[in-house]
Amino acid sequence: MLRLWFCALITASGVSHSLRAAEPIDALIPNEAKKIPFAKDTPITFVTRNSNSQVWAALPKYWNEATQEVVDPVSGAKVARKAVLIKVPLGLSSGPAVPPENPMTLAKWALGKKLYFDKIISSDATVSCATCHDPAKGYTDQSRFSTGIGGNIGGANAPTVLNSAYNRFQFWDGRAASLEDQSQGPPTNPKEMFDGKGDAWAAVVARLRAKPEYVKEFEAVFGHAPTRDAVAKAIATYERTVLVGNSIYDRAEAAMKKRVADDDTGEKPELKAVDFTAVLKDAIAKNDTAALQPFGDAAKDADALGKRLVSGRNLFFGKASCTNCHVGENFTDGLFHNLGVGTKDGQLPAGDLGRFGSLPTGHKDPALVGSFKTPGLRGLASTAPYMHDGSEATLEAVVDYYDKGGNANPHLAEKMRDTAAEAAYAKARAAGQPVDPNVKVFTSGGWPIIPFQLKLTKDEKADLVLFMLSLQSDPVDPIVADPAK
Ligand code: HEC
Ligand code: HEC
Repeated sequence: MLRLWFCALITASGVSHSLRAAEPIDALIPNEAKKIPFAKDTPITFVTRNSNSQVWAALPKYWNEATQEVVDPVSGAKVARKAVLIKVPLGLSSGPAVPPENPMTLAKWALGKKLYFDKIISSDATVSCATCHDPAKGYTDQSRFSTGIGGNIGGANAPTVLNSAYNRFQFWDGRAASLEDQSQGPPTNPKEMFDGKGDAWAAVVARLRAKPEYVKEFEAVFGHAPTRDAVAKAIATYERTVLVGNSIYDRAEAAMKKRVADDDTGEKPELKAVDFTAVLKDAIAKNDTAALQPFGDAAKDADALGKRLVSGRNLFFGKASCTNCHVGENFTDGLFHNLGVGTKDGQLPAGDLGRFGSLPTGHKDPALVGSFKTPGLRGLASTAPYMHDGSEATLEAVVDYYDKGGNANPHLAEKMRDTAAEAAYAKARAAGQPVDPNVKVFTSGGWPIIPFQLKLTKDEKADLVLFMLSLQSDPVDPIVADPAK
C-alpha cells in the first residue's frame, strides 16, 4: 500500500508537464494524488423545500457556503470541510439528477463555468457556449437561428439552458440523453464551434492542454490532464446550477396552499384571483421588476391582473389543454409531438424528421415523424422567438398557432387533432355522403387529418399569454450567471 502510494507520487510529478499528443483525449484514469485532497474538496448539494423545508427556509440565498463534519474515507479521521448548499428555487420540488460518476464539487463547477464562457472551445476562438446561450438573454441568443463559427447560420432555434438539467432528453430531437452527452456536440458542429479541420475534440483537448492553468485545474478536479470526458463533466456540472423558479405562479401556488391551510375550511386547494393578486401586490411593494416587467402596463392593476391570470391558468389546464403536453414543474412531459411546425401545404420540410430521425436504426417509431421535444415554459419572456425553428416571434403568435390546431400534416399528433370530426368525415366518405372539401391532408392510409381548433376568444388568448408570462422566474443568481463572479 505504502509502496504504491509512493509510486503514484513519482508518476504524478513525472507526467504533469510532458503530455504527448498520443495521450488519449476521450478519457484518462485519474491519479488520485493529483486531486484536491478530501478535506479540501467542497461538495455542492441541492436543498429543496420539499426534502427539508426548515433548512430550506433558513438558507438566506441561492448559493450558501457552509461547513460539514465528515469522515475522511482514507484516514478515517473526522474532518470539517466546506460545502455549498444550493437553495433550489420555489416551484421546483427536487434538485436535478446528478449522475453518480459526475458528483458536483465547487472546483469542478468553477472549471465548468470557465469553460462555458471560454471561446477556446471553438476552433478559431470566436464562439463560446455563452455566445448562443447567453445569461443576459435568458440563456438563448434571442435570434431565430444561431450564428456560429465563421458566421455560419444553424438550422434550429437555440433552446434555453435554464432548467435544462431537468430535461429527460437534450436537443429538440432528443438525440442526447444527458447534459454530459449534449455538451460534446457543439465543439464538433461546423455550424457552431468547429472549423471542420481534423479531429475536433483532439484539437479542443490540445488547446486546453497547452494552457498550464487549465492543466492544473483539470488535475485538481479529475486527477489528470484535460480530456473530452472531463470537459463534458465540468460543463454539465455548471449547467446543473442554472436553475430558475420562484415565478409569480409559484408564489401564488404557495400563497394559495397557505391560505387554504390557514382558513381550515376544508376548501379545495385551487388557485384564485386573490392568490395572484396578493403576490403581485407583494412584488409591487418590493419593486420586483424581474417578475413584473413581462406584464407591462397590466402589472399596474394587481386586482385586474389577478383575475386575468386565473382565467389564463384555467384555460391552460382546461379548455386550451396545454397541459396535455406542458405538464409538471417545468411544464413539459419530456416527450415528442408533431405540431406541424414548419409545414407547408400539408408537407413537412424535407429532412426535418425530428425525433424519428434521431432514434437509432431498429428503434424508429413512425408515429414520431416530424415530432419535437415539448419545451419547458419557464423564462419565455426572455427567450423569443419560439418553436424548434424559431418560426413564431411572439407568445401571441404561438397561441394563435395552437388556436388553429397547428398545421395539418400526415403525422400531426393525435392530441392536436379533432378525432371526432375525423371519424365523422371517414364515416360520411364511406357512406358516399358529401364531405368537407376543406380537408386536404390525409395519412398515407387515407385517414383525414383535421386539426382541433380551440376557438379561443380574443380575451382568452390574451389571458393565456399573461399566464405564460407569470411563469417568468427570478433571474439566475449572479454567482452562476455572471462570468466575472
Ligand atoms: C452557434 C450556437 C451554439 C453554440 C456555440 C452552442 N449551442 Fe447549445 N444549442 C444551440 C442550438 C441551435 C441548439 C438546438 C439544436 C438542436 O436541438 O438540434 C442547442 C442545444 C443545446 C442544449 C439542449 C437544450 C434542450 O432543451 O434541449 C444545451 C443544454 C446546450 N445547447 C448547451 C450548450 C453548451 C454547453 C455549449 C458549449 C459547449 C453550447 N450549447 C454551444 C446553439 C448553440
Ligand atoms: C400535443 C402536445 C402539446 C400541446 C397540447 C401544447 N404544446 Fe406547446 N409545445 C409542444 C411541442 C412539441 C413544442 C415544440 C414544437 C416544435 O418546435 O416543433 C411546443 C412549443 C411551445 C412553445 C414554444 C416554447 C419555446 O421555447 O420555443 C410555447 C410557448 C408553447 N408550446 C405553449 C403552449 C400553449 C400555450 C399550449 C396550449 C394552448 C400548448 N403549448 C399546447 C407540445 C404541445
